[in-house]
Amino acid sequence: MKTVILGTGSALPEKVVSNDDLSKLVDTSDEWIRQRTGIVTRHICVNETALDLALEAAKNGLENAGVAPEDLDLIVVSTVSSDYRFPGLACQLQEALGCKKAMPFDIPVGCAGCVYGLDIADAFIKSGKAKYALVMGAEALSKVMDWTDRSMCVLFGDGAGCFVVGASEDDSRGIQAILARGEGANGDALVMKDREIANPWSGKKEAPLDYAKMDGQAVFKFACKRVPESINELLKPLGVSVDEIDKFFLHQANYRIVEAVARMMKQPIEKFPTNMDHVGNISAASVPRIMDEYNQQGLLKRGEKYILCGFGAGLAYATAYVVY
Ligand code: UT7
Repeated sequence: MKTVILGTGSALPEKVVSNDDLSKLVDTSDEWIRQRTGIVTRHICVNETALDLALEAAKNGLENAGVAPEDLDLIVVSTVSSDYRFPGLACQLQEALGCKKAMPFDIPVGCAGCVYGLDIADAFIKSGKAKYALVMGAEALSKVMDWTDRSMCVLFGDGAGCFVVGASEDDSRGIQAILARGEGANGDALVMKDREIANPWSGKKEAPLDYAKMDGQAVFKFACKRVPESINELLKPLGVSVDEIDKFFLHQANYRIVEAVARMMKQPIEKFPTNMDHVGNISAASVPRIMDEYNQQGLLKRGEKYILCGFGAGLAYATAYVVY
């Protein structure tokens, strides 16, 4: 038995913010952002919540899959910027969709989150605990950005993307293997601290909430090492050559990372879809969003071989090999 991707969905907030818009806020330029990242515009929440984005993406994904909300057994939401600390966004989504029997929970994995979510859903499906699962990445990252910090605020956007997956008896299709790992020793490279312990016994006054911070070069190097390494490690025991892969759907953090991975894997850049030019880095929503864009254009083909790869905070990374 295999877990197959039955459908994809995504949603973006209405407001589009250009590089020129950002150059009015911080000391940056369209030229710097384009050249260093490949990003031109991103969508930013003004009136939307993380739940609004997740709900729209879920409805699209379920419709695309032909699965009714009440048939979902599992909802895994990867988010680091949900509307509430608790309840989890997955619980809110479960209620909003009206899927009574689904087990909903969040995972705060960051940009690798949806590929982690696929691994979890795959385990639930293979164990017989779930028949249909929703794997969602939903982020309202604009609220954890310091809009005076040019090294961060130009990179990220808001959005949601999801996979609807289910069981299939056809072993030649679906998720063939997933590798999900963490490099915790370098976790300091991408962080957003929570409130400090401040209570009547700690002797500390409550400090203001921090913003997201990143050592960009450290994360860049981590990605360029771990992405090719994990693809090779995943495919080797399966006897699948990297040349056989039709598309590599990588996390859309930086066009230069995608270029570097293509070069290191000796693969043509055309095999690497990109959309960071118009959505920026939307963290956990990134991989399902780019696949959904391809799906909407009829560019995902049954039987094609895909690599899905997310990497980021943790430093966590996850790579999946999927026959669509
Ligand atoms: O989603 C999670 C995973 N995240 C990633 O994979 C991100 C990985 N890292 C990156 O994509 C890149 O490291 C960045 C895009 C974040 C930064 O690019 P970089 O080429 O590594 O730039 P840098 O941090 O080395 O900065 C180069 C220069 C610095 O100035 P000096 O010290 O050379 O004078 C920065 O202060 O660029 C400056 N700079 C900017 N200048 C204009 C940094 N941000 C900006 C900006 N506009 N927005």
